[in-house]
Amino acid sequence: MVQLARRLRQDFDRIQMEHEFAIDEMLTKVSILRREFQHLHRYNPIEHVTSRVKSPSSTLKKAARLGIDPTPEAIRERIRDIAGVRITCSFIADTYRVLEALTSQTDVRVINVKDYIAEPKPNGYKSLHALIEIPVFLSTGAVNVAVELQVRTIAMDFWASLEHKIHYKYDGDVPAGLVTSLTAAARAAQILDEHMEQLHREVRGLDTDTVD
Ligand code: GTP
Ligand code: MG
Repeated sequence: MVQLARRLRQDFDRIQMEHEFAIDEMLTKVSILRREFQHLHRYNPIEHVTSRVKSPSSTLKKAARLGIDPTPEAIRERIRDIAGVRITCSFIADTYRVLEALTSQTDVRVINVKDYIAEPKPNGYKSLHALIEIPVFLSTGAVNVAVELQVRTIAMDFWASLEHKIHYKYDGDVPAGLVTSLTAAARAAQILDEHMEQLHREVRGLDTDTVD
């Protein structure tokens, strides 16, 4: 029994480590894109990047919630958001450009892409989501590890982080008045995004040195 528990513990530590490595790989890819873009266009489309690995205990909680067997095999196969990378871009066009640049790399296998910018969630949530797999090279060979990518603008990110706090505070049961206000704020964020993009285009049009 003790041995079994120790074995499971080792398996879960390994799963977590593999996902940490996958994040390292993705962060390197993002950093290369960023630096190359800056070099070519003297412009950086990425404002900031954050990442997280779900702890074994929250992975197990999610498995229990979804009725997934708490075995390493089932977890690897069915919980695909253990590794998450969030990229915040300046403008809407950049979100598509950055996602395309990452998902078109030959070692990246795209499992699915959800475009919540073109089709926002009913509450107003916007973002590009891509579930991908990348190989991580270990001493025992390569393993393909899932990473959930989220790409959005600063305005979308600002909205999503407040919405997340409110959702959390009310345990998902957000009062109707607040839901309406949040939806209105999402519209305001969209108007800001469109406005900023327009301004940016005008400014870049004046500066021939930085046109791509
Ligand atoms: P999960 O099981 O939560 O991963 O849902 P899913 O597999 O249906 O994926 P989905 O693309 O809907 O959402 C994945 C992630 O996007 C979530 O874990 C959040 O980080 C983010 N997200 C999705 N919807 C919302 C939303 O309405 N508000 C906020 N703040 N974040 C959201
Ligand atoms: Mg998730």
